[in-house]
Amino acid sequence: MSALDRLAERQLVLVTGKGGTGKTTLAAVLGHLLAAQGRRVLLLEVESRESLHQALGAEPSGGAVVQAGPRLWFQNLRPQAVIEELVQEKLPIAYLARRITESPAFHQFVEGAPGLKETALLGHAYRVLHGLQRPEVDVVIVDAPATGHGASLLAAPGLMAQAAEGGQLGDMARDLAAYLADASRCGLVVTTQAEELPVQETLELLQSLATRLDLRPDLVVVNGLYPAVPEAGPRGAWADLLRARHRMNQAERARLARSWDGPLLDLPLLPLERGPALVAALAEALRGAAR
Ligand SMILES: Nc1ncnc2c1ncn2[C@@H]1O[C@H](COP(=O)(O)OP(=O)(O)O)[C@@H](O)[C@H]1O
Ligand SMILES: [Mg+2]
Repeated sequence: MSALDRLAERQLVLVTGKGGTGKTTLAAVLGHLLAAQGRRVLLLEVESRESLHQALGAEPSGGAVVQAGPRLWFQNLRPQAVIEELVQEKLPIAYLARRITESPAFHQFVEGAPGLKETALLGHAYRVLHGLQRPEVDVVIVDAPATGHGASLLAAPGLMAQAAEGGQLGDMARDLAAYLADASRCGLVVTTQAEELPVQETLELLQSLATRLDLRPDLVVVNGLYPAVPEAGPRGAWADLLRARHRMNQAERARLARSWDGPLLDLPLLPLERGPALVAALAEALRGAAR
């Protein structure tokens, strides 16, 4: 079974990696692939600056659920909104819940409580997957924050469960932590580029996921690889530059592969602008690489 087939069986897929290596693009690519296979997919963006809509060729969501294609939706999640949603769910008396979420003390608590925002964001994905929140989908793909913050996102429910032990929030965090630890339902994809700093950061991330969370990604994607230009091919400064970038890509990819023995798929650097054409072409490339 290929890494993509395994990923297609997950309910929740988180995409993280060094900033700028293609997390948002890859989240859209995976959404495209899974929706094409017949699964109903929600792409969740947790970065406050919206960019997922551009990959999908849509208008910004402004926090709403927007349909971007057959069986494909996306939403930019606002932490404040999901925390309020959480409080309202846990406090069925709407009037009381509103009083709490509107109070300045609540806002201080939200900013100060470690892991609360992260837990609320994942809790939202959990509720969507359990039919408690629109839209009705089979899989949620989270365009997660970059590396260190991505790992913190995954660690948050476990920490929250310890901190709020016994209470309603603690119970929810515990359920969520157990859900995230269930590798048959939740998957993790890491993006990188075959360059020195991204590879270094990826190796450190893989190490810290393994030691801190006992977690192993389903897939590492090496994105934006330069094309091979044959030595006997074109001459000149541009051709030499491309050859040099390609050699560097190969060396760095090999360094990554020496320390990571799990699934590793390559994606080429394509001469396309951010948008649906790029996403479709990369989806095709990923399908080919997984074969
Ligand atoms: N394989 C690729 N080929 C060409 N452009 C790419 C590729 N992957 C990503 N890009 C472009 O690189 C930029 C950064 O990608 P993005 O997915 O936004 O990264 P991140 O979310 O990790 O910050 C975007 O403009 C995107 O369109
Ligand atoms: Mg992004």
